[in-house]
Amino acid sequence: MLLTAARARAAVSFCVRGSILRALLRHWRRSSVAGQMRATRVTVDLDQLRHNFRVVRRLVAPASVLAVVKANAYGHGLVECAEIFRQEGAAMLGVAFVEEAIQLRQAGNPLPILVLTPPQAEEAALFCAFGVHALASSRAVMEQFAAEARRRGAVVPVHIMVDTGMHREGIAPHQVLDFARWLFEQEGLQPVGIATHFATADEADPAFLWEQLRQFRAVLEQLEAAGMRFPFVHAANSAALVRFPESRFTLVRPGIVLYGYQPWQGGERLPVHPALQWRSRVVEVRRIAAGESVSYHRLYRAQRDTTIATVPVGYADGYTRRLSGRAECLIGGRRFPIVGAICMDELLVDVGDAPVQPGEEVVLLGQQGQESIWAEELACWAESIPYEVLTAIGSRVPRVYCQEEQADAAQLVHGAVAGV
Ligand SMILES: Cc1ncc(COP(=O)(O)O)c(C=O)c1O
Repeated sequence: MLLTAARARAAVSFCVRGSILRALLRHWRRSSVAGQMRATRVTVDLDQLRHNFRVVRRLVAPASVLAVVKANAYGHGLVECAEIFRQEGAAMLGVAFVEEAIQLRQAGNPLPILVLTPPQAEEAALFCAFGVHALASSRAVMEQFAAEARRRGAVVPVHIMVDTGMHREGIAPHQVLDFARWLFEQEGLQPVGIATHFATADEADPAFLWEQLRQFRAVLEQLEAAGMRFPFVHAANSAALVRFPESRFTLVRPGIVLYGYQPWQGGERLPVHPALQWRSRVVEVRRIAAGESVSYHRLYRAQRDTTIATVPVGYADGYTRRLSGRAECLIGGRRFPIVGAICMDELLVDVGDAPVQPGEEVVLLGQQGQESIWAEELACWAESIPYEVLTAIGSRVPRVYCQEEQADAAQLVHGAVAGV
């Protein structure tokens, strides 16, 4: 779509801030140039992301949604996904590190952002300067945060992290009351939330989750009896929010389900669908004779004369070497085995006698004709989990965004870039 000046102005009015538009423009320009140069790309369906978010929002209402966008939004693109979730009504965004929050601020995203890992004392100035919510999980660090906030005349919103059994971060349940009292007294800190994190929400046996929930509830009751209440009470990741409505409190923290993956395997399937596909093209084909080998260390030897297709994707793109000799891809709507050692920048496919030609599309993750390969299957081959498959997709793989439904700012900007 070409963009006229009037439409460009209309696009600007769709944006909450002009800086979001500029940031998206920068992103799309970068990805479209890179996308033209590389045969390999990730496409992200923004309509699908919207749909997935709506499924979650409807399910958990009246609880609100903190959209987890850490690790480049599980590989889908931090700024773009955060903007879609903002448009769809996310109350807050969750990142792993303050650098990700800064990236979002610099792109103009105005939503509250919570850093989901324990902050370091040296980061206090960044939290103050960029208005980012912090986990309160250590008194020593919070002292530094309060001091820095006072120095700057700022207030840092904080969420008390309660360690109910994950034993990764947070305050032990029996220490929370004292810690919370102290926190409320600190000028420069504003306790706005209290949280915990489940260790086994996606496991068949719910016993440990119930125990964590029991401890969290007991802490909440204790605090309430002492007159301490929090607008944001949160515990549930994707699996918990789907399986245990009791865990939703006032805010839920979904990640994987927003990107279209079922958060646990044991129940009814949610009507979400993966938003990300990873494709490349065949760059060369060659015939090899029975007994000949391919790639490093000659791990694969052809049983008969066959055709080997070369695809310019490797472990440096996040297609892990653990997939060597285990994975399949799609070409012409059919599955073919990826053979031999996966190289840094290339992998090899045994297409047998199929008339595969250079330039043909290869699907590593996604759908082609009637066939599909999604992150669960890749994860199974790699002895991993879908989270790792998605977040491993490297930064040198261009992300291309598509959406059809909504004539909103993102679409108009995309059109503008295409027309430049
Ligand atoms: C603290 C916290 N909350 C929420 C999530 C989201 O989890 P999921 O992707 O399983 O929904 C994560 C992800 O690792 C997390 O660390």
